[in-house]
Amino acid sequence: MNAHTNGKKEKIALAYSGGLDTSVMIHWLKEKFDAEIVAVTGNLGQTKEIENLEQKALKTGASAFHFVDLREAFVESYIWPSLKAGALYEDIYPMATSLGRPLLAKALVDAALAEGCTTLAHGCTGKGNDQVRFEVTFAALAPQLKVIAPVREWEFKSREEEIAYADLKGIPVAATKKSPYSIDENIWGTSIECGVLENPMTVPPEDAYQRTVAPEQAPDEATQVEIEFEQGVPIGLDGKKMDGLTLIETLNKIGGANGVGRMDLIENRLVGIKSREVYETPAATILHFAHRELERLTLEKTVFQYKRGVSQDYANLIYNGLWFSPMRVALDAFINETQRTVTGLVRVKLFKGNVSVLGRMSPYSLYNEELATYTAADTFNHRAAEGFIHIYGLGLKTYNEVLRKTEPSVSIGADISL
Ligand code: ARG
Repeated sequence: MNAHTNGKKEKIALAYSGGLDTSVMIHWLKEKFDAEIVAVTGNLGQTKEIENLEQKALKTGASAFHFVDLREAFVESYIWPSLKAGALYEDIYPMATSLGRPLLAKALVDAALAEGCTTLAHGCTGKGNDQVRFEVTFAALAPQLKVIAPVREWEFKSREEEIAYADLKGIPVAATKKSPYSIDENIWGTSIECGVLENPMTVPPEDAYQRTVAPEQAPDEATQVEIEFEQGVPIGLDGKKMDGLTLIETLNKIGGANGVGRMDLIENRLVGIKSREVYETPAATILHFAHRELERLTLEKTVFQYKRGVSQDYANLIYNGLWFSPMRVALDAFINETQRTVTGLVRVKLFKGNVSVLGRMSPYSLYNEELATYTAADTFNHRAAEGFIHIYGLGLKTYNEVLRKTEPSVSIGADISL
């Protein structure tokens, strides 16, 4: 396997987080493949483990380190499209982790090509969704590059064995206390699993939560927020225009302080396993809720109802690693067309873990008070309803008439003796 090309060492680009796995991985890959390692870290707005990464990577044996700030691209090209789509996996999960993977994979490919690497490596396990998201993206963007997933093939069975290997090889791994959970975090949310959470009947301990207070501990006073949207994209908070990153960070703080965005989900992984994951997604929860409220006001009925199916398809596609697919691009075209009128304001209330709507308005509002009112201002033509109902119900009426004659015992409604 020791690939020497023109006397030059093989170069492997590794998706690097600075944690134990990828630190040990640098050494393991170097030794096993006699390769040079380019460590690549993408910034998706995670708050942990991004200090001194370059120093850490080089000390652990990498020959080069790339730190790529992906935050703006993540917000503009991944998060906003998913918000416009209303994409919530299995009706709940806003997919912070799932959305980040294709972008990280793309950044890894870009760095690999710039550095002349022949191989890509990542630290995902062999039973999760993330390996699929990474490798499907690699194959779509750079099929010429080889892929290694050390965790699927290396000899270590536990964290202790990895630490023993690090000690033996003199790999400096920071002696940070291991969290009892596996946590993945970015600006759109935190995903928490493993440890005691593996028993689906166990209540998640408070220490599992990273960015929200318990609803019971949240202030007794409700907080109001007004969110402004333009064509489905949030552009301002409480009357102030804001870039996407700042807006999401602000809502994460306000939402987290009110205990908003906690969820506990048994979900269906792509690889056929049901897993239990706890999520914290304050900003995503508030924005999906507010965006939906604005759509209720501004989307024509059939578009609103049809789009629910598209939301599910779009969510499945993201979750299942198919971001770089023609289907996603085609669905974006549909979704963007629906968002032409999703412009306006939504005022929401955050209170002890809940988000509720206080009001909404839009220049494209399809709500017509003169039609809806039950007061004297009413302009709806009540007489027209009679003819409408007659024709609307004609098919049912005819069918039941015939059935009553031909098969009196089985006609629809025959067993309802009211
Ligand atoms: N279940 C989520 C997904 O597939 C998150 C996976 C990573 N979770 C974690 N706690 N490390 O998108």
